[in-house]
Amino acid sequence: MTPEQAKQLVAEAAIEYIEWDWIIGVGTGSTANLFIDELAKIKGRIEGTVASSEASADRLRSHGIKVFELDQVGDLPIYVDGADESTKHLHLIKGGGAALTREKIVAAASEKFICIADDSKLVDVLGAFPLPIEVIPMAKSYVARQLVKLGGNPVLREGVVTDNGNVIIDVHNLLIDNPVELESQIDHIAGVVTNGLFARRGADVLLLGGENGVTKIET
Ligand code: 5RP
Repeated sequence: MTPEQAKQLVAEAAIEYIEWDWIIGVGTGSTANLFIDELAKIKGRIEGTVASSEASADRLRSHGIKVFELDQVGDLPIYVDGADESTKHLHLIKGGGAALTREKIVAAASEKFICIADDSKLVDVLGAFPLPIEVIPMAKSYVARQLVKLGGNPVLREGVVTDNGNVIIDVHNLLIDNPVELESQIDHIAGVVTNGLFARRGADVLLLGGENGVTKIET
């Protein structure tokens, strides 16, 4: 099975969690895109969506699905998104698609976070995938120096400007054995907008696609 087929399986499985008249939080990335395409098939059942990026909002609208601002709707019953890495504790690294800040906001505002991924994303320890950090542009060198002090190797993601007008630093070589603590530590560096650790608010359900179909891990 290809990763694409595995992603398709979990995109379809996530639809099972959607109830009538809900407003759905929708993530960003190739797996979230497949979920959006599945959501289009049941669009008559939902009231609309809140998107975690301009790219996802455009894809949702192209299917004729209503996209609300988060401010218009308040808390959401559900958020569906992919991840770059997950542990069995449902601590995640996200932000490979540079949408981490809005993703973290929509996840925070949602009752249930369903994470969908192919099973290659399940890891014992987070950190093989470089940790994305959204940074205010004028602070990038300062933030990079602080990340070196934490043992990381920060690399500016060239040519990328986030939906919020900021830059992304990817931190290599971090062995993340305490994601909750590291998430707070990095958030306290002046100039950091968001870091890609989703540990304080991890996923509630992880759906992994692979050779044996869909495996569910729940907190
Ligand atoms: C975007 C993300 C994505 O969820 C993450 O990068 C996984 O993407 P994909 O589904 O394409 O593997 O966090 O910022």
